Amino acid sequence: MQKLAIFASGNGSNFEAIAEACACGSIPAQVALLVCDKPGAYVLERARKYGVETFVFNPKDYPSKAAYEKEIADRLDATGVGLVCLAGYMRILSPELLGRYGGRIINIHPSLLPAFKGAHAIREAFESGARVYGVTVHRVDETLDGGAIIAQRGLHYEGRDIAELERMIHELEHELYVDVINGLLEGGVSREGEPDISDNYK
Ligand code: GRF
Repeated sequence: MQKLAIFASGNGSNFEAIAEACACGSIPAQVALLVCDKPGAYVLERARKYGVETFVFNPKDYPSKAAYEKEIADRLDATGVGLVCLAGYMRILSPELLGRYGGRIINIHPSLLPAFKGAHAIREAFESGARVYGVTVHRVDETLDGGAIIAQRGLHYEGRDIAELERMIHELEHELYVDVINGLLEGGVSREGEPDISDNYK
């Protein structure tokens, strides 16, 4: 069975959506490793609940980013991970990790990229007066929320309640991430130029 790793720094609702989909068989894979750079993050509770092995580290304990990323890549190798899903991992990956796992690392972002990159995407979109919002899954490169777009899904929202909008966007993220992971697992995750599985604005 294909093995997934998830990288997360915080709450972990996307982690849980993926772990639950694997547990109930709607993704034919196993979440084999959670990588977390924030000891104490709530996502670790969720990993315990699903019995997922964790690698938790504090970047300050390493001499450099290359050093902790080497350890991450070694653990991915040792676990036999085929696909890495970033889900609220608040760090840019460096060439150390991209060199070894590039092409097999994807990320989810709560906007219709390339609009609203960064950590405050939902608030910035809301404050811009947008009426169409959405989420994106993309391949990961060395830039912030860059990399080729794999799939997007949008939603119309004309209300003015940001908490409600956030809930809707996170729900959409959970659905899209599960669908994209399934699509990639079916199509082969490491192939270059694989068919576009996007279903924009469904
Ligand atoms: C999500 O909005 C994701 O798109 C972004 O970070 C957030 C993580 O949320 N990259 P959670 O930790 O999965 O609940």
